[in-house]
Amino acid sequence: MEILGVGTDIEIINSFRAKPYDGHKVLYNKIFSKAEISYCLNKNDSYASFAGKFCAKEAVIKAFKHTNLFDIISVEIINNANGEPEAFTNGNKLHCFLSISHTNDQALAFCVAYA
Ligand SMILES: CC(C)(COP(=O)(O)OP(=O)(O)OC[C@H]1O[C@@H](n2cnc3c(N)ncnc32)[C@H](O)[C@@H]1OP(=O)(O)O)[C@@H](O)C(=O)NCCC(=O)NCCS
Repeated sequence: MEILGVGTDIEIINSFRAKPYDGHKVLYNKIFSKAEISYCLNKNDSYASFAGKFCAKEAVIKAFKHTNLFDIISVEIINNANGEPEAFTNGNKLHCFLSISHTNDQALAFCVAYA
């Protein structure tokens, strides 16, 4: 296995809480897919999950910067049956390891792209 890149991002969750989905749907739809929005809105702390997915997208873009292929809406973060986040573009799973964590205040994600 060859490591092609790494990426990370950290965000303050209050930045998302300050822009609730109701009232900012256009913004959310520019960043998140319908599946991502539905996942986050069903969580107890929706904005921690939105911030975590945002971090994961940024981490993926950084890890795959050698491809120059991805912008934020083209990267989709979907949790598998075990809850582990995985990255997709156009429905295709990206070859990367991805991890998300959040406290009440901050969310972060880390991505390792491989071939
Ligand atoms: C998964 C686990 C490590 C999360 O730890 P935590 O300290 O509660 O939470 P963190 O803030 O660090 O991480 C939360 C993120 O981890 C990710 N996550 C969830 N389950 C995961 C798993 N099995 N493996 C890797 N990542 C996971 C999610 O993206 C989650 O963010 P989200 O809820 O916004 O989607 C912890 O719950 C655990 O060890 N669970 C055991 C496995 C388990 O219970 N699986 C249930 C499905 S069968």
